[in-house]
Amino acid sequence: MRGKLLGSARFDDHLVVLTDPKAIAAEQYRVLRSRIEHLSQEKGFRTFIITSPAVGEGKSMTAANLAISMAQSKDRRVALVDCDLRRPSLHRLFGTRMKEGLVDVLEERSPLETALVPIEHPLLAPGSFSFLPAGRANAASPEWLGSTKMDKLMTLLSERFDSVFFDTPPILPLADAAVLGEKVDGALLVLRAGSTSAETLTLAMQSIDLQNWIGVILNGVDFERSSRYSGIYATYQKTYSAQAIEARGDSDG
Ligand SMILES: Nc1ncnc2c1ncn2[C@@H]1O[C@H](COP(=O)(O)OP(=O)(O)OP(=O)(O)O)[C@@H](O)[C@H]1O
Ligand SMILES: [Mg+2]
Repeated sequence: MRGKLLGSARFDDHLVVLTDPKAIAAEQYRVLRSRIEHLSQEKGFRTFIITSPAVGEGKSMTAANLAISMAQSKDRRVALVDCDLRRPSLHRLFGTRMKEGLVDVLEERSPLETALVPIEHPLLAPGSFSFLPAGRANAASPEWLGSTKMDKLMTLLSERFDSVFFDTPPILPLADAAVLGEKVDGALLVLRAGSTSAETLTLAMQSIDLQNWIGVILNGVDFERSSRYSGIYATYQKTYSAQAIEARGDSDG
């Protein structure tokens, strides 16, 4: 599925906060944003991973829409980093070819300034949103995620940006998300409605023991068929969405 041509970039239609900002899905990302903003204000949280138990549950799509939505807040500068060094995909959502990125910065082939891609769009204030692609990764690249160089880069990014979102591979069967999860302020778990099984979720939660889980995002809720939402959204069009069902920290902060 291809999106609209804006400037030189072709944004994927799944970036609803840019391509269809009035959709229920886009509104739900803004609801999620307000919870994250609350945590940022209350607890000073700046860095977040987005992960999920298994492949294809919507981590990358959620990370991109949430990060863009945050960048649309007034005076907020946001970075999105593709830390899926095994199967990077975010560059495709932004319609860019894979170029230098995270791995090239860590291996000192590129300065951060060169690797960061400023995303331009009429719905984004200039300079509000930057994307760091995975870069030219190979089989050994994921080992960088646990390095002190990665720690330093994460610190640098959190100094330059108000919020930094890290897209990760699935928890099962890879350690990458757990490694990164230890280094960020908050971890968000994406589940795919009607797809993520209870067994998969249990296995994932057993294999990753993070103190900083802040919420669960239910991706792919069908608002038309779900009785819980049908009354509320009866007058709106049917669409896919991400729905924040919990954001721990709202009440205990
Ligand atoms: N709610 C949704 N509605 C429609 N399509 C969706 C939805 N969520 C995800 N998708 C589609 O499902 C596919 C997987 O989504 P995405 O790449 O975001 O998942 P992922 O968890 O990052 O996958 P991976 O584990 O491979 O990194 C993509 O084609 C995406 O566009
Ligand atoms: Mg992904």
